[in-house]
Amino acid sequence: MKNNKRKVIFDCDPGLDDALALLLALASDNLDILAVTTIAGNTTIENTTQNALDLLYFYGRSDIPVSRGNANPLLGNFSMGAHVHGKRGIGSVELKSSPAQEHSLRAHDLIRKLLMESDEKITIIATGPLTNIALALTLYPEIIEKIELISMMGGSLNVGNIGAATEANAGNDPEATHIILSCGVPIAMFGLHLTYTTQIYPKDMDRIESIGGTFAKTIADFNRFHFQFYKNELGFKGDPSHDSCAVAYLINPDIFTMEEYNVVMDLDGKYSRGQTIVDLYNVTQRKPNVLFGMKSNREAFVELVYDSVLKLSYKLSK
Ligand code: RIB
Ligand code: CA
Repeated sequence: MKNNKRKVIFDCDPGLDDALALLLALASDNLDILAVTTIAGNTTIENTTQNALDLLYFYGRSDIPVSRGNANPLLGNFSMGAHVHGKRGIGSVELKSSPAQEHSLRAHDLIRKLLMESDEKITIIATGPLTNIALALTLYPEIIEKIELISMMGGSLNVGNIGAATEANAGNDPEATHIILSCGVPIAMFGLHLTYTTQIYPKDMDRIESIGGTFAKTIADFNRFHFQFYKNELGFKGDPSHDSCAVAYLINPDIFTMEEYNVVMDLDGKYSRGQTIVDLYNVTQRKPNVLFGMKSNREAFVELVYDSVLKLSYKLSK
């Protein structure tokens, strides 16, 4: 029987903020996750794939297939994030090992299979470098028609974390980002300038922990670990929960102020390779290709995070 949920494929590099984003998607009644595909980025592909399996097990959804994606970008190497996410990519939390095995198909092949076999369009949530999706689009252009939307965390308006103004997901694989931005699929983009505003404050983490039980404490600890880097290195007051924005938008779009712009990837710049160039005043007269996140309502975002943890925690305790 058909359900009315939005079908999604979740492509990610877990990753502490990916872990929370996955939780939001699983807790939502609007989303039906068909598969989780992994990409290296925050840590190696071995770690992100095992983390995806273990997180789904922890979240009570090891029935969702996990498929391994690329270890490397289309060109060069990833700049990894052990300084933010810990050696294994999920901070200092020890998750139980999932009994599930990864899917036999590689990520780009599973993405194609799911899209082509579906009788309705599918949304792709992308919270890591865009390599798997770019590979799927390049090898199997027929999938373009089957993609409803790519809701992605990546890029920025002149703010960087792997370069002065280069964001990690977009800038770790500039060629892949270019392929996504120019393929014609609808894109909702949540860049670093925006995700720096969706901060989960220590008092919010304490409130999450106060739900009670190991589950809620583990989620609060994911945030606390991620927060350390931003507090110590950047002086932030809270944990910028980047990846959850790409999911929160699908659950409650009103949290964000979105505007349509033309966005391109700089592939050549000496200082700007990997940056997203956003034409705020349509100077180039190029057609808008991205619904671009400009502002967020932090309180509404944090409420959604709290409600999602509460809901999943309750469900798992039954
Ligand atoms: O720039 C933030 C992004 O880089 C997030 O997706 C985070 O998980 C890291 O991959
Ligand atoms: Ca990520």
